[in-house]
Amino acid sequence: MQYGHFDEKNKEYLITKPNTPAPWANYLGSPEYGAIISGNAGGYSFVKSGANGRHLRYHFNSNDEPGRYIYVKDLENGDYWSGSWQPVGKDLDQYQSVCHHGTGYTNIVSDYDNIHTESLYYVPLNKTYEVWRMKVRNDGTTARKLALFGFAELTNNNNYEQDTVNLQYTLFISRTYYKNNKILQVINENIPEEQTWRFFGAAGAEVAGYDGDRDTFLGEYRSYGNPASVANGECSNSLNYNTNACGALQINVELQPGEEKEVAFLLGQYDEQGASEILSHYKDLSVVEEELEELKAFWHSKLNRFQVQTPSDNLNNMINTWNAYQCFITFIWSRAASFQYSGLRNGLGYRDTVQDIQGIIHLDHEMALERLRLMISAQVSNGGGLPLVKFDHNPGHEGTPDDPEYVRETGHPHYRADDALWLFPTVIKYLNESGNWDFTNEVVPYSDKGEDTVYGHLRQALQFSLDRMGAHGMPVGLHADWNDCLRLGAKGESLFVAFQLYMGFKIFMEIAQNKNKPEDVAWAQGLLDELDGNIQKYAWEKDQFVRGFTEDNYTIGSWENEEGKIWMNPQSWAVLSGAARPEQARVSMDKVYENLRTDYGTMLFYPPFRKYGLPVALMALFNASTKENGGIFSQPQGWLILAETMIGNGDRAFEYFLNCSPASMNDKAEVRKLEPYVHGQFVESKDSPYQGRAHVHWLTGTASTVMVSLVEGIMGVQPQKDGLRLNPCVPSDWTEFSMVREFRGKKLNIRVENNNGVQKGVSRIVINGEEIQGDLIPVTQLAAENDVLVVMG
Ligand code: GLC
Repeated sequence: MQYGHFDEKNKEYLITKPNTPAPWANYLGSPEYGAIISGNAGGYSFVKSGANGRHLRYHFNSNDEPGRYIYVKDLENGDYWSGSWQPVGKDLDQYQSVCHHGTGYTNIVSDYDNIHTESLYYVPLNKTYEVWRMKVRNDGTTARKLALFGFAELTNNNNYEQDTVNLQYTLFISRTYYKNNKILQVINENIPEEQTWRFFGAAGAEVAGYDGDRDTFLGEYRSYGNPASVANGECSNSLNYNTNACGALQINVELQPGEEKEVAFLLGQYDEQGASEILSHYKDLSVVEEELEELKAFWHSKLNRFQVQTPSDNLNNMINTWNAYQCFITFIWSRAASFQYSGLRNGLGYRDTVQDIQGIIHLDHEMALERLRLMISAQVSNGGGLPLVKFDHNPGHEGTPDDPEYVRETGHPHYRADDALWLFPTVIKYLNESGNWDFTNEVVPYSDKGEDTVYGHLRQALQFSLDRMGAHGMPVGLHADWNDCLRLGAKGESLFVAFQLYMGFKIFMEIAQNKNKPEDVAWAQGLLDELDGNIQKYAWEKDQFVRGFTEDNYTIGSWENEEGKIWMNPQSWAVLSGAARPEQARVSMDKVYENLRTDYGTMLFYPPFRKYGLPVALMALFNASTKENGGIFSQPQGWLILAETMIGNGDRAFEYFLNCSPASMNDKAEVRKLEPYVHGQFVESKDSPYQGRAHVHWLTGTASTVMVSLVEGIMGVQPQKDGLRLNPCVPSDWTEFSMVREFRGKKLNIRVENNNGVQKGVSRIVINGEEIQGDLIPVTQLAAENDVLVVMG
């Protein structure tokens, strides 16, 4: 079933049936002021931290409640509804709604009983408050008297946990006041240094009534769907004292036939003076349209740095808007605020963050650089990554997983084997996109002590693995490799990390070569050869690579095993790293296709673990076909697509894309449940009774891996030190497609012809009328704007 569709031109997703199978969300704001909102206006807001700066309450694991509600009451006939379908939930035969989720804004349009409303929600660029602007229009033939009620349920404490469970304390520290069109809430009023102020105000109209006490607004034994004040048609002018607070403001409007009025509600953590200044900014509500345009321009100018026009709308929507936007959202929010993540984790996961950076490099390498620097400064001087990089990370002064204090603060007593190795693909991507190879000379502190150039940091990342090799001459798995549920320890070995190290050596050699350091190249080459020999000797099993070895030499991911016989990541990573010989790549990738592919994506491995007999395989704690236990983990889908493009299988790469693309499930949303415009963390696979159901929306490393596979793999746009390589790998039935790409400040309008129907292989490139040799357009040949023709086949 379909609940909505993409609007590619406006970079929006339109929810046309509001009763979506899960809350379909969007993000507003920035880390300074964050907000998440569903298509039914459910969601929460916070300043700086979802866990410690929360002022708009949301019940996790609930029925998407509460949120940013604007109720409409007909003062003559007594009927009432809401600007979003929920919470009042009118009969959908009479209530129409279209929710426009866009880049940094959400606009919910509704029509009911001849009243048309538009509820626009956004956080103005670089501001730390939010705007809910409602336009209301009388589409009928008689005059109407309406009351609008804006309702914000305020938390009792900025700390999410305190607000939710420590009621014997937090219920008694807040109170509200009403002053000049706004509710003001103060927490810890009697201790000036501890005070926190919030406000909920109205602009564009006079407030006719208010409630600062939630229970009075809702009424006894009533709920968000039928609040007493709305049902009565008037607020009680209540204020809370030792009860829950809220901001509820009533505005009465009279509308002649055809007449439209507008009003705005403003919410934020400001005291009276700050709130009054904000309200006065909205005296003239035309400022709202300006701010909205500014917001769109901000996001669209980023996204427009790479746009494609291919025969697949699905791919176009993903590359041009939604996957790209999800990359930014995941980059910005990490795993800190969604309807599943409450923000309680007080920092950035190393591996997740370093990978997230990859997703935005082609669109904003400057934004990427700042975060990359931070992550390099979170590498410990022994070369490993800090498992958790605290939001107040202090380079040079942090503890390590070996220090009790760090462990106490973060709860992370162990290193992961993979963390710092993620720097290699991310750093090289940054260097090639920006051309700023001097970055390798930049001196960055280690997290604990000392400092080194970026180049030195990279070498140290290799050293961390070299210092921790196992019996087969491969890196040990420590507390986890990419897979959080593989606990191979100090002796068991991980093929995932072996392939990462393989890739690390190759990228290090490329950088060393460019820096003219032949001794370093030779050093890495020797070690690479050794690793290569060990992989070939121990890890290749007839037609597949194994996943690892436990400390007592049990092979994980062997066809001989009863459970977990074949794993996806070792096959794709053997290709990505370059370790697989061409024949190995062919047969092992075929085996993945035959044994692990489903119509909803490709399983991590099969069969899932049911008999808990392998203590290192912790994933048995999940139901079969779920998450790391043989589920369709979404992040590795990108690696699979990319690997297929590297071996020239455009048809299969595209099939894998279609299998995992959220947009493919737009018409089967009742199966997938999650938003059809964003990836989730995983999809249930074939041993689940709910095959195809997706979970954990928005904040997932999938955004970046799939994005990279589409941009560099399928579209084949591969920045290099001295230019831009164009080497697409596409379905053989694509005869023509085009792209617009900004690269080093130059614009390229690229048209690709594929009249011979090949999947890969460029025969000619013509730039500004001049044919070039090979598939690399030298940066020196780029004008401000360029016409590029690529002929495949
Ligand atoms: C989750 C974690 C990520 C990990 C993956 C596989 O997505 O955020 O760090 O690599 O699970 O276990």
